[in-house]
Amino acid sequence: MKFFIDTGNLAQIKEANELGILDGVTTNPTLMAQVGVKGEAAIAEHYKAICEIVNGDISAEVLSTDFATMVEEGKKLAAIHPNIVVKVPMIKDGIKAIKWFTDNGIRTNCTLVFSAGQAILAAKAGATYVSPFIGRIDDSSWDGMELISQIRHIYDVQGFQTQILAASIRNALHIVKAAEAGADVCTCPLDSILGLLKHPLTDIGLAKFLEDAKKM
Ligand code: G3P
Repeated sequence: MKFFIDTGNLAQIKEANELGILDGVTTNPTLMAQVGVKGEAAIAEHYKAICEIVNGDISAEVLSTDFATMVEEGKKLAAIHPNIVVKVPMIKDGIKAIKWFTDNGIRTNCTLVFSAGQAILAAKAGATYVSPFIGRIDDSSWDGMELISQIRHIYDVQGFQTQILAASIRNALHIVKAAEAGADVCTCPLDSILGLLKHPLTDIGLAKFLEDAKKM
């Protein structure tokens, strides 16, 4: 399973990248706004900066919702760097745009996916990635991980090549469960990635080893 970090924060991206296990970055308008990126030029510069830190796929989201504008926006985003993946919302014009990008050699990430039917449409349009939002499904008292399993099954049975990108990850257990359910990628906040490190027995064991090391 590939690890992406889900943030627009350059310091966090650097910290995750320094672990040596990072395969890419996802952003969205909320995450970009959180770090104060505003205006077309600043947005492009920010994506360029991310691409210079991480050698992997970087999702950059279109801000429009009609086919023609999404295509124009996506072409500009894709021109920023070869690693840019154009993130497109799961709406009717979004599917048309994903198909256009597929036919024109631009890779895509279909976002805001909450059902298996939407994931089938994204795959049919040739999306590189499909992003089911696990945490938000859990928030509405459904099981987000069930959706990952269902999409995995459908894609395997049908031979769809679209990669399942588990998104809206909220904790380390989500990462473990996404791996178990067969997600190709998990995009996570830094805290959730670092949460995988934690175990009290590791800390207790290390403290004892360090104490005994003094007697060696
Ligand atoms: O990748 C999608 C993600 O950023 C949404 O996460 O926590 O806002 O549901 P969240």
